[in-house]
Amino acid sequence: MAKTKVKTAYFCQNCGAQYPKWQGQCSACKEWNTIVEEVVQKEVGKPWANKRTDSKSKALKVADISLTTESRIKTDNTELDRVLGGGIVPGAVVLLGGEPGIGKSTLMLQLALGLKNFKTLYVSGEESAKQIKMRAERLGEGSSDCLILTETSTQNIFTHIDAVKPNLLVIDSIQTLHSQAIDASPGSVSQIRESASELLRFAKETATPVILIGHITKDGGIAGPKILEHMVDVVLQFEGDRNHIYRILRAQKNRFGSTSELGIYEMVSHGLREVHNPSKILISQKDEALSGTAISATIEGVRPMLIEVQALVSTAVYGTPQRSATGFDLRRLSMLLAVLEKRCGFRLGAKDVFLNITGGIKVDDPSIDLCVVAAILSSNEDVAISDKICFAGEVGLSGEIRPATRIEQRILEAEKLGFEQIFISKYNKIEVGKFAINILSFGKIEEIYQTLFN
Ligand code: TYD
Ligand code: MG
Repeated sequence: MAKTKVKTAYFCQNCGAQYPKWQGQCSACKEWNTIVEEVVQKEVGKPWANKRTDSKSKALKVADISLTTESRIKTDNTELDRVLGGGIVPGAVVLLGGEPGIGKSTLMLQLALGLKNFKTLYVSGEESAKQIKMRAERLGEGSSDCLILTETSTQNIFTHIDAVKPNLLVIDSIQTLHSQAIDASPGSVSQIRESASELLRFAKETATPVILIGHITKDGGIAGPKILEHMVDVVLQFEGDRNHIYRILRAQKNRFGSTSELGIYEMVSHGLREVHNPSKILISQKDEALSGTAISATIEGVRPMLIEVQALVSTAVYGTPQRSATGFDLRRLSMLLAVLEKRCGFRLGAKDVFLNITGGIKVDDPSIDLCVVAAILSSNEDVAISDKICFAGEVGLSGEIRPATRIEQRILEAEKLGFEQIFISKYNKIEVGKFAINILSFGKIEEIYQTLFN
């Protein structure tokens, strides 16, 4: 008789590293108490030669798999629908992450209250039913089929689900849940993983969409195991500056759509208001022209937006000059300053440089480079740039101006908003006659400097 032998190993629940022995801290990811014993091999023998078990699933040709037409659930929140790729897919598990106080609970409650004739179960482990009622009154949504449950045990949540039979489940937040199947405190890596996998199985088996709200850690990742992000279908990030009113919803992962879409909201006294036409919101209104500001024609996601960049260049008081950037990558700023210093001969090495993107948003589009450079030069020269001029172009390491993607869309948006001139790279191939706006093409930063300040 073959001897059955169970082989186990120890795995980190956070990063998946394997160890032969238990230890308190994972040497790979430095997390504490994440190492758990798991069975790696149950029995010797050939699994394919064992007795066959019954399986309900069947191998199908791709062409034979039928798609039901009512695929997506449209919410009345068009920005959210857009980010999700056109609505919520039945059975999808969506993870929404964001900093505390950014408005995750508000967004989800607003979604739940706005879905008419659609039963939603909003499970909160963070706030009492009274607190949620107060918020709902503030949001001013009328009656709806939204039910509120304050509960943190997954087993109890499933009991209520059986009674309520919701069409959508919202969990606020995954870090507060605990499952009786595991003996660990809520918020621990193994609890988060277990609770999430129970909800995932529920979503897939009943085709009920589940939205999980997740906390994020100091460095911006979703708290808990990285596996959580792999398990779910969609990962959304709600970001913005708490002191500003604008919020941006981005998809970091989407199994049912693109991740390039983004939703823009404004936090007002009665909840989140959708911003459908964001082009001009990020430009400050001022009466006189000030040095150090420039406007960039950027594309965020797939939408063109005009964003104002402010720079302040001043003589450093201390030995080491300070560099600081809000909404823009600090390393990229250092690179642009090095290019200005080395390739274009501007003496910025002994200057403090501060950079700020207005509206408290973060910009990823590399074509904002040219605008950043223009704002820095404007502040350095103390000469204002007209607010009828905008910029679109990337700056390379040798000081060359590289073409921006989808330039026609940017030009059209600038034209629509009443700009008179747009500065772009000469490597962008466009039909000049097509646009009313004056298009100026440049190959090097020096040429722009000559045009603007001489
Ligand atoms: P909340 O949804 O509780 O944030 P999270 O769940 O991400 O922690 O949002 C709280 C913030 O939103 C709070 O600081 C106040 C603000 N807010 C408004 O400005 N207007 C409103 O109508 C609501 C409900 C909240
Ligand atoms: Mg909350």
